[in-house]
Amino acid sequence: MFTRFRRKRINPVLRNLLQETHLSVNDFIYPLFAKSGSGIKEEVGSMPGVFQMSIDEIVKECYDLKKLGIYSIILFGIPDTKDSVGSDAMCEHGIIAQTVREVKAAHPDMFVVTDLCFCEYTDHGHCGVIDPILQTVDNDITLDNLAKQAVVHAKAGVDMIAPSGMMDGMIQAIRRGLDEAGFVNLPIMSYSTKFSSAYYGPFRDVAESSPGKGDRKSYQMNPANRNEAIAESVADEKEGADILMVKPALAYLDIVRDVKNNTSLPLAVYNVSGEYSMLKMAAKAGVIDYDAVMMETMMAFKRAGADIIISYHAKEVAEILQK
Ligand code: PBG
Ligand code: ZN
Repeated sequence: MFTRFRRKRINPVLRNLLQETHLSVNDFIYPLFAKSGSGIKEEVGSMPGVFQMSIDEIVKECYDLKKLGIYSIILFGIPDTKDSVGSDAMCEHGIIAQTVREVKAAHPDMFVVTDLCFCEYTDHGHCGVIDPILQTVDNDITLDNLAKQAVVHAKAGVDMIAPSGMMDGMIQAIRRGLDEAGFVNLPIMSYSTKFSSAYYGPFRDVAESSPGKGDRKSYQMNPANRNEAIAESVADEKEGADILMVKPALAYLDIVRDVKNNTSLPLAVYNVSGEYSMLKMAAKAGVIDYDAVMMETMMAFKRAGADIIISYHAKEVAEILQK
């Protein structure tokens, strides 16, 4: 009666024995948004459950995260002042350097990653310095600044750097800058294959980082390109990245598998703001079983080839995994 596939699905214990992909709280990195002040924890409408927080609130949040078994965070900064180059990001008293110092002082056991980019810090909202003639981000000047930013984060005590600007040669430039400053043991997780995606919309509300004019198509990738997606990650592997990434995640699972199969480094996916908000809003509308859809989505990332999942859902996932 039962055939060769179904006979293995009848007993739940056997189903567990045969499960090919597993999720663990150890797979997750949780994003946090830092701003100056104290006692500030402001929810942003487009991302229910995600907050802009002052540093003291981030330090408090880390206690909750550790209780859930989450020991890794990625920090984004919302500076008090923006300028044409994004000076706050390269200053030892800037929002991120300060956040890293305070979080590491209170939580030496927390693995702190910083997003390395300029779009939150520039008054024009682009991911580097603008070339006045070409009216696009100047690649090589931005590389110098990325290396400076990396050293500032390193001196503040960060545990891993995650450059997200999609500049050509950014991994080599940052690695060289870190090595010259003596930070030879600081790993780099590259946003190696990052698409120019409409799924980043809600993030730009939270991080206050929308480009003033134009878009990011001259540095982020065309969502239509598969060969180029592989080539970008392969290049970063050669330049010395320690971990690669595909971003966004959900609409790009084919690329996740392609990158996994064409590189030998650990691979992260960024389950981005738009993906998160879609599930939240669908749940609010009563049209999905939120927990079930969320867990199925996380499992899909692992199955596609992700080793690490950066997700705003991390705490909710951890709660379910604890049950
Ligand atoms: C900065 C950065 C962005 C995200 C992560 N790092 C925004 C962008 O590239 O516009 C997006 C994350 C998300 O949507 O959750 N370059
Ligand atoms: Zn950026």
